[in-house]
Amino acid sequence: MGVAITLRGLTHTYRTAEGPLTVLGGLDLDVADGGYAAITGPSGAGKTTLLSLLGGLEAPQVGRLEVGGQDLTGLSGDELAAYRRATVGFVFQHFGLLETLTAAQNVELAGTLNGTSPAERRARARELLDAVGLSERAGHRPSRLSGGERQRVAIARALVNEPRLLLADEPTGNLDDDASLMVIELLEKVRADHGCTMVVVTHNRQLATRADMRIPLDRGHRVPA
Ligand SMILES: Nc1ncnc2c1ncn2[C@@H]1O[C@H](COP(=O)(O)OP(=O)(O)OP(=O)(O)O)[C@@H](O)[C@H]1O
Ligand SMILES: [Mg+2]
Repeated sequence: MGVAITLRGLTHTYRTAEGPLTVLGGLDLDVADGGYAAITGPSGAGKTTLLSLLGGLEAPQVGRLEVGGQDLTGLSGDELAAYRRATVGFVFQHFGLLETLTAAQNVELAGTLNGTSPAERRARARELLDAVGLSERAGHRPSRLSGGERQRVAIARALVNEPRLLLADEPTGNLDDDASLMVIELLEKVRADHGCTMVVVTHNRQLATRADMRIPLDRGHRVPA
């Protein structure tokens, strides 16, 4: 199950020492339930900001932002956190794994908020690591894994709560071509298997063309592809 995304006039402004900085200027966007969108554009275009808004890491300020029929505008911090837990899985460029934990523990930890027992969490982590082809590496710490393997652990972690929206910010930015292809194919398989909606930020043109919708941004506006 995925979610449909609707943005109308979404505007986002950061307060900075130099004054207000508007980084998204009245963005309109529709992504279908189960859709696969790629956000592209130069550094500073607002890609991470847009992903943070979709994932409830930033609170929407101006305009309308609906995910799966839920309006995120006006939600409190706690409500946004609940939305994130219930709906969103994140994958980041720098993997975001805890170095002192094994691959399996990293995945298990992500499941601690959803009320399952430790035994269930362990079993689920095994299952997810198996699904990303890393059952043999479950006991390794991230420092003993390759970049591609770390990102596969991060993908397993993102799936713990069965997200209906999978968000990935430059998931292949730190990987070589072979590992990049493996990671993007894994994300695509996850989407196909779970039917989730997927939004990926990428600088990689080839990866962007694999999506069924491209959202090129420049200075906070959509520009022609
Ligand atoms: N928390 C923040 N406070 C103030 N300014 C910010 C904040 N986060 C981002 N910005 C600014 O907003 C603009 C857009 O940033 P954003 O991170 O969304 O860009 P991006 O497209 O993801 O860039 P990159 O490709 O370099 O990751 C940039 O000018 C950035 O400096
Ligand atoms: Mg960014």
